[in-house]
Amino acid sequence: MKQQLSSAPGPIGVFDSGYGGLTILSKIREVLPQYDYVYLGDNARAPYGSRSFEVVYEFTLQAVCKLFEMGCHLVVLGCNTASAKALRSIQQNNLPHIDPHRRVLGVIRPTVEAIDSLTQSRHVGVLGTPGTIKSESYPLEIHKLFPDIQVEGHACALWAALVEAGEADSEGTDYFIQKDINALLAKDSEIDTIILGCTHYPILLPKIRKYVPEGIKILAQGNLVGESLKDYLQRHPEMNAKCTKGGTCTYFTTEAEEKFAESAATFLSEKVEVNHIELGNNQTICYMDTKKEKSRTVEVFQGTAWEAELVKGLLESNGIACMTRMGAAGAYSLTIGNDYSVWVFEEDKAQALEIINNRTDIDEKNLE
Ligand code: DGL
Repeated sequence: MKQQLSSAPGPIGVFDSGYGGLTILSKIREVLPQYDYVYLGDNARAPYGSRSFEVVYEFTLQAVCKLFEMGCHLVVLGCNTASAKALRSIQQNNLPHIDPHRRVLGVIRPTVEAIDSLTQSRHVGVLGTPGTIKSESYPLEIHKLFPDIQVEGHACALWAALVEAGEADSEGTDYFIQKDINALLAKDSEIDTIILGCTHYPILLPKIRKYVPEGIKILAQGNLVGESLKDYLQRHPEMNAKCTKGGTCTYFTTEAEEKFAESAATFLSEKVEVNHIELGNNQTICYMDTKKEKSRTVEVFQGTAWEAELVKGLLESNGIACMTRMGAAGAYSLTIGNDYSVWVFEEDKAQALEIINNRTDIDEKNLE
């Protein structure tokens, strides 16, 4: 049945599509070395930057659920794309059903808060993935706090992919860095501060500095996120008490362990032990019409843990679930009316079917 999340204190989770979040994690650990951390990189499916809203949301929610299952009460999305596209939806739609006491934080807000004291010209540039730039999250958040600041964004379509591919130091990368910086500055010559709005970009800093004219400040996010997390934990002692303090860090990747370990060692300048993890593991979800006397229907399909949580939560709260799923497993949509209730089985599909088949109160079945 539904997996219970442990209420025991646990590590702080840091998530990114790939290696970029390591730039956030290492700065967080400088500021808050006493805590335990779990890093999760979805390297097998990175980069996220050009993926649709639905896919980034789905992948990010899977990662967040996995980190919760690992015992985290607090998860930092060390990824602008996920912060821009999935954070609000997870906070508003999913957390109340998964566990209203767990928290997910992003990287955009702490970055935006810092901008006011840095820009004198009040013209700011943002470099980010296509997803982050298209979401307009930076201009929206900046204008909420500082309406007088002008913001221009530019999408660097390949930067994160170049980092993921281990090309951060190669000559070819210079070409794209120079081209994208020039494109941003051509939009507004008064820009005096550039936000690196992607956690992969600090890995490219030596090259970025080469092409940004002197006098323009470059803002990377690591320290800001670290300080903001420190502040958050001070303001929320109840969450602080749920975060264990042993100074450890465990790494998980959806890619091959050796590959991650090799690259992570370069980015972190230390050797790390890595574990492989699967995201989007299927769970068997059974939807069952429990009220129609004569024509009960049962639908069974393989879904992910978060889909199970989502549907169950929606049904519990208002008796109606409407879910559209897109992604690797193929697109489908499912609407469940008031007459349906949901069972969530952790057993595999065959076992779940056996359980249903053995229920004598179900007279008619329509199994897939
Ligand atoms: N590092 C991430 C970010 O901050 C994502 C990059 C990507 O996967 O495209 O946006």
